[in-house]
Amino acid sequence: MSDTYAVIGNPVAHSKSPLIHAAFARQTGQDLEYGRILGDPEGFEEQVRRFFAEGGSGLNVTLPFKERAWRLADEVSPRAESAGAVNTLIRLADGRLRGDNTDGVGLVRDLAANQGFDFAGKTVLLLGAGGAARGVLRPLLETGLEHLVIANRTAPKALDLAASSSGLGPVSGCGLDGLAGKRFDLIVNATSAGLAGSVPRLPEGCLALGGWTYDMLYADAPTPFVRWGAERGAAKSLDGLGMLVEQAADSFFLWRGVRPSTAPVIALLRGGSS
Ligand code: ATR
Repeated sequence: MSDTYAVIGNPVAHSKSPLIHAAFARQTGQDLEYGRILGDPEGFEEQVRRFFAEGGSGLNVTLPFKERAWRLADEVSPRAESAGAVNTLIRLADGRLRGDNTDGVGLVRDLAANQGFDFAGKTVLLLGAGGAARGVLRPLLETGLEHLVIANRTAPKALDLAASSSGLGPVSGCGLDGLAGKRFDLIVNATSAGLAGSVPRLPEGCLALGGWTYDMLYADAPTPFVRWGAERGAAKSLDGLGMLVEQAADSFFLWRGVRPSTAPVIALLRGGSS
C-alpha cells in the first residue's frame, strides 16, 4: 500500500498541493498518495489524530489551522517555533508528531535560488504582522540581509513582532506612515490586503531604483501588489507561486528524504510545459 499524505485546510478545494505533490512523486519515482481534507473548525485536532491513527504519513496544514497544528505537535523545529505555526506534520517512527514550517525557506529559496536575488547587504521591507509575516521571519533574517523593517497598518503589531524577533537578526518595526523617506531593495507583501483586491498604503518612492517586489499571495491573474510593483518600475515583481512550490518541495523532502526539482512544476502550474 502507498504511503498517504494530505493537505488539511478550510477552504481546501482550491489547494494546488495535491497537484504539486503528485508531480513531485512522478518525477522522483516515489510511491505515495496525496489527498485533501476539509478541516473542521470544531474538530481539527481529532481529524489530524484520526488521519495518523489510520496510517497517514504526513500532512500539510493550511489556513486557518497552522497555529492549531503548532499547538498539537509533540515537538517542533526551531523555525516552526519562531513562526508559532506549522505547515508540515511528520509522523515519527515512535508515532509522535513533529511539526515544521517550510513557508519561510520556500520564500527565500524562490527569491534567491530561482530568481537570483542576492540578500547580502540589502534593505528589505516586510509588509504585515500577522501569521503570514511571522511565518517567514526567521528564514528571512538568516539570509545575510542588512536590515529588515516590518511595517504594518496597525503599528503596535509590527513593533511587537520586531521586538520579539530581535534576537534572530537586524530587524525593526513601524507603522506604514513610518516608511516615508525610506528606500527598500525588496518589498515582500505578507498582508492579506490582496484578498480584498487592495494593497497596503505605501509612500511613493519607497521602492529603491532596481528594487524588487514580491507578493506572497498567488492568483491566476497578476495580484494587486504584483501590479503595484510593476507600475513602480520594480526590476522584478513576483507572485507567490514559486514560494508555494518551494515550500511543498521542502515538505516533500522532510517526508521522503528526496528533493524534487521545482522548475518543471512551477512551469506546469504557470501553464507552460513541464
Ligand atoms: P495572515 O495569517 O494571512 O497573516 P492575519 O494574521 O489576519 O492573516 O494578518 C493579516 C495582515 O494583513 C495584518 O498584518 C493586517 O494588518 P492589521 O494588523 O493592521 O490588520 C494586514 N492587512 C489586511 N488588510 C490590509 C490592508 N487593506 N492594508 C494593509 N494591511 C492589511
